[in-house]
Amino acid sequence: MNTWPAELPALLAHLWKRLETAGHIVGDPFRTVALATATDGEPAARIVVLREADAAARTLTAFSDNRAAKVQELRRNPHAQWLFFDPRARVQIRASGPLTIHHGDDVAFRAWEKVAPANRANYAAPFPPGSEIAAPTLALPMPFDHDAGRDHFTVIRATIERLDWLELGEPHHRRAAFAWTGREWKDRWLVP
Ligand SMILES: Cc1cc2nc3c(=O)[nH]c(=O)nc-3n(C[C@H](O)[C@H](O)[C@H](O)COP(=O)(O)O)c2cc1C
Repeated sequence: MNTWPAELPALLAHLWKRLETAGHIVGDPFRTVALATATDGEPAARIVVLREADAAARTLTAFSDNRAAKVQELRRNPHAQWLFFDPRARVQIRASGPLTIHHGDDVAFRAWEKVAPANRANYAAPFPPGSEIAAPTLALPMPFDHDAGRDHFTVIRATIERLDWLELGEPHHRRAAFAWTGREWKDRWLVP
């Protein structure tokens, strides 16, 4: 069944509404998203949690550790594609646009204040993410160093300029593209 709106403007509004909802609902299928980078010709993709989507600002936000490979890659090439998938609706969304890395600035400090205490340890590993260790427990900060977490905490924020939406549905599959012109979204139907 085709479950998303039939008209392009309503479809775009629904798309952003779904992402905004996913930004604060744990378990929403769009809450986890594949973030794909391309640096020096090397593609790399990984799952991150969507922390916030803002339709008016056209932004998508994720959190990471400043020492992570993806953050280094995004500093070199601040463009990424965000790949969302809702298996029940059979909807795929690809979103892309330039990114800003916020580390040690107001955006990062404000976001850190809202990170739940239990999640703060995610950013406080004593060694950089991806370092080889002898056992998994060696990645845990002991005792938990709150300041280390704050110092590594990084906000990845993209301003979306292109959206590609695809629904595998009945009676037909549908695909739409939305491009930001600088003033408004230009919408089109595409062959799926
Ligand atoms: C369900 C799930 C959620 C994840 N969320 C994040 C996240 O929000 N931020 C993050 O940096 N890594 C997250 N990760 C880990 C990344 O997928 C990745 O393995 C790690 O960050 C190292 O990636 P990198 O070497 O490309 O930096 C998550 C992994 C899973 C499986």
